Amino acid sequence: MKKHVLVLVYSQTGQLKQMANNLAKPWLEQTDFEVDFYEYQPQNDYPFPWSSDAFFDAFPESRLGITCPMKAFEPPHQNYDLVVLAYQVWYLSPSIPVWSLLNDRAFKSFIQNKTVVTLLGVRNMWVQAHYQVQKQLRQSGAMHVGQIVMTDPAPNLVSVYTVILWLIGGKQGPNGIWPRSGVPEQRIAELPKLGGLIQEALIQNQFDALQSRIVENKGVDISFVLKTIEFNGYRIFGVWAKLIRKIGQAGDKRRLWAIHVFKYYLLVMIYIIAPIPSVLFWLIGKIFYFPLKAHLKSIQLLK
Ligand SMILES: Cc1cc2nc3c(=O)[nH]c(=O)nc-3n(C[C@H](O)[C@H](O)[C@H](O)COP(=O)(O)O)c2cc1C
Repeated sequence: MKKHVLVLVYSQTGQLKQMANNLAKPWLEQTDFEVDFYEYQPQNDYPFPWSSDAFFDAFPESRLGITCPMKAFEPPHQNYDLVVLAYQVWYLSPSIPVWSLLNDRAFKSFIQNKTVVTLLGVRNMWVQAHYQVQKQLRQSGAMHVGQIVMTDPAPNLVSVYTVILWLIGGKQGPNGIWPRSGVPEQRIAELPKLGGLIQEALIQNQFDALQSRIVENKGVDISFVLKTIEFNGYRIFGVWAKLIRKIGQAGDKRRLWAIHVFKYYLLVMIYIIAPIPSVLFWLIGKIFYFPLKAHLKSIQLLK
C-alpha cells in the first residue's frame, strides 16, 4: 500500500527547507511513496533579513507562546501515514509561526492520531522548545515518534555573532575570520540517510525503535553545557518577556526602548557575564554527568 507523507515547513533563509527536501529524498525516489510539501505561513510574514528592531521585538511573544494570525491551514489531503513538522527555535522557544500552527484549530483536529517526526535546523539551543512542541503534539492526540536536530557547530560565543550577521545582516558567511553560520552543508547531506530510517519504520509500520536509531545515526546534536545554560536562560527570559509585554504588544512603538534595553542586556550577558557562569555550568555538567546522561537517554535524545 502507498505511504502518504506530509512535510510541513516554515523557513526564512531556505536552510530548513533544504533540510526537509533532503530528508524526503529517499521517499521521492520510491513509487510507493507520495510526498506533499506544505509551507505554513503567518498572515503577515516575518522579514528576512530581519531589521534589528523586528528581530528583538519577536522576543516576548516567542518566549510567552503568544500566537500570530496564520494563513488558513489547508493541506492537500487529510489522511497521511506520517507528518514531518520542520520548525525553527526563537528565543529558546518554538518560533511564533510553529507555535501558532500548533495552536490553530484546523491543525489541531488534523494532527489528531497522526504519527509525527520533527525536524530542527537551529543555532544550538533547542531543548526547551522541543519539550513544549512535544507536549503540545501529545495534547492534540498526535504520536511524536522521532526528532532530528542539526545545529551550528561553531563555539557558542562565535555562533551568537555569526547568526546575527546572517539573520540581520543577510550574510551567512564565511565573513572574514568568522565561519559560515548555520548547519554545515555536509550535515545537511546526511539527511537522506535519516530519511531512509524513517522510510523503513514507515514500511514496517513500527516506530518504537525509530528515535534510538536516529540518535545512533547522529541525528540529534546536543550539548550538556548548552542545555544547562539554556535551562537557566529560559527562566530569566520569562521574566523579561512578561515585563516587556506589560509595556506594549508586538510592534507597539512604546515598548521599543524596553526591547533595546533587553538587546543590550542580552549582549552584555552573553559576552561579558555568561562566560563566568559558563565555567560553572560546565562544572555542573561534569558533576551531574551521569544523571544528566541518564535523563537524556530516557527521553531518547542521547544514545
Ligand atoms: C528571532 C530568532 C530567534 C532565534 N533564537 C534561537 C534560539 O534561541 N536557539 C537556536 O538554536 N536558534 C535560534 N534561532 C535560529 C533559528 O532557529 C534558525 O536556525 C534560523 O532562523 C534559520 O532558520 P530557517 O533556515 O528556517 O530560516 C533564532 C532565529 C530567529 C529568527
